[in-house]
Amino acid sequence: MRLSQFGETLSAGSSIVSLMEDLGSALRENPEMLFLGGGNPARIPAVETALSGALHNALADPEKAWQMLGVYQSPAGDTQLRQELADCLKSRYQWPVSAANIAFANGSQSAFFVLFNLFAGAMSDGSARHIQLPLVPEYLGYSELGLGSNFYRASRPDIELIGDHSFKYHVDFSRFAIDADSAAVCVSRPTNPTGNMITDTELAGLDERARVADIPLIIDGAYGLPFPGIVFTEACAHWNENTILVLSLSKLGLPGVRTSVVIADEPVIRAFAQANTVLSLAAGNVGPAIARELLASEQLLQLGREQVTPFYRERCQQTLAILQAALGHLPMRVHRPEGAIFLWLWFEGLPISSAELYQRLKARGVLIIAGEHFFPGLQEPWQHQYECVRISYAQPGHVVEQAAKILSQEVARAYAQG
Ligand SMILES: Cc1ncc(COP(=O)(O)O)c(C=O)c1O
Repeated sequence: MRLSQFGETLSAGSSIVSLMEDLGSALRENPEMLFLGGGNPARIPAVETALSGALHNALADPEKAWQMLGVYQSPAGDTQLRQELADCLKSRYQWPVSAANIAFANGSQSAFFVLFNLFAGAMSDGSARHIQLPLVPEYLGYSELGLGSNFYRASRPDIELIGDHSFKYHVDFSRFAIDADSAAVCVSRPTNPTGNMITDTELAGLDERARVADIPLIIDGAYGLPFPGIVFTEACAHWNENTILVLSLSKLGLPGVRTSVVIADEPVIRAFAQANTVLSLAAGNVGPAIARELLASEQLLQLGREQVTPFYRERCQQTLAILQAALGHLPMRVHRPEGAIFLWLWFEGLPISSAELYQRLKARGVLIIAGEHFFPGLQEPWQHQYECVRISYAQPGHVVEQAAKILSQEVARAYAQG
């Protein structure tokens, strides 16, 4: 097989592929694996009931069922649903949006592929532009999305130490620099892997700098506001015509339907919908049909607020307590959990890399994610990147408890060998 550069780039073993392979094989082949690795949302019975009820309603009406299963949608998705969503956002947040500011896509991963490559990479004047990440760690799924080399530039964050066991990353505005080749700024909020909610003030600073540079600010709201809203701090949802907000139904409990929503200025939506049509012909209809039912019953935002977020907040507190009991005697700090479904653990001075720790844990039946994959675009060496791991708290407490014991043993062994 002789592959093109595109083929080589996308089929080479990437972090996201090995993560998804581990995720798949761990769940299918080894049900005994203590699985703290993936980004799969938890099962929340009340949410499952609401989602299957919405699907049931969509199927019960033959006209709706046909629209859902038997029709190619227009490039940006069903206009009426886009208008209904715009009305909801307008009344809830006073955002000046209409159907023309909204496009549906097949999951946010593929939406980012389109968006990033719409703005960054080879330009027609021969120059090359990059996506600017204002702080890393950042979502590892971005890493191989760019059809070009040096596709990302990232800055190290400021680290605020909080007490003896916690810390928080902040955008270091003295390091973060937009230059003539920056195509867009992108940040996930809350951030995968850290659960960091960059503050409203930080976001305003990024927004202002992006506007001055005349480039868009992309906010990855896969876990964030307005839905699914897995946010534990006081923070505002943000949108203006220079913002591209990408939302997803996945973490609300629907990763299987592959539906995301892009909210942006009209020219961006037009370009996005055209590119997406070339790639996918049309966005799938099942997720949007469920979203429509949820919107009609006012559950789209409510489910996140009343079911999903309280569930993860409680899981998060439980997991913190379990970790503290099992690893509190070790030099461990946990990033202040402000949202999403992960905890980010920092073992300062860890004598082995996070990838080695991952291997040792996997051999003992525990899956976590090594931290070093979450630093796309960071060009300077930084030991910190090898000292962190991500764990998910979507799993039940007894799984976390067993895993924490083994994690504690392996981390203690690593320090002792150091
Ligand atoms: C921060 C972030 N963005 C985007 C995605 C992609 O999600 P999806 O393609 O399911 O919408 C994920 C998935 O875990 C994520 O964590």
